[in-house]
Amino acid sequence: MTADLFEGVLDVGPARQKIADGATLLRGFAKAFEHDLMPALHAIIAQAPFRHMHTPGGHQMSVAMTNCGSLGWVTDRSGYRYDAIDPEIGKPWPAMPAVFLLLAREAAARAGFAGFAPDACLINRYEPGARMSLHQDRDERDFDQPIVSVSLGLSAVFLFGGPKRADKPQRYRLQHGDVVVWGGPSRLFFHGVAPLADGEHALLGRQRINLTFRRAR
Ligand code: SIN
Ligand code: FE2
Repeated sequence: MTADLFEGVLDVGPARQKIADGATLLRGFAKAFEHDLMPALHAIIAQAPFRHMHTPGGHQMSVAMTNCGSLGWVTDRSGYRYDAIDPEIGKPWPAMPAVFLLLAREAAARAGFAGFAPDACLINRYEPGARMSLHQDRDERDFDQPIVSVSLGLSAVFLFGGPKRADKPQRYRLQHGDVVVWGGPSRLFFHGVAPLADGEHALLGRQRINLTFRRAR
């Protein structure tokens, strides 16, 4: 029996697509967590509302953000950083719900990164027209830890490039429940999101929400 065939026999669970060395797209992986995930998400947003942050250059981002976990990613005039305190509220970010941790850990493990224990979850809200330009996730301490990205609501075109900004990105349509994990050789690859097309999602309405789990410290 060839290795491929053997893997096919044992490979239970949602489809797994390699998109680069160290990067995996897990179609529909988050759907099994939906029942607990959605109320947990709404509770976080009620405690730490979405806000449009500013880049160090002074531009307001089209994506609205909030965080949960012991650290949250923030950007303002002084730069990008992880902070334990929500600057809008002056209090710690909401704790990371158990279902978030479980989803992130299981997705990472399925993509080949066992033992992932995120301490930060950035929550991005895209309304029609919102986009995220190509960037690297490099504010974390340990690049041996992967990034786990969960897509909810309206679908979007995810751009996944290479180690250089000029590398032409591949385009992937991400739908509700899809998860992308990148680490190892592609941990610092440029990525972004094309402007969100208008639409209506049965659970989330006129928006896309993305959860990105990171090990910041
Ligand atoms: C991000 O890179 O932080 C967000 C990616 C996404 O929204 O899919
Ligand atoms: Fe990112």
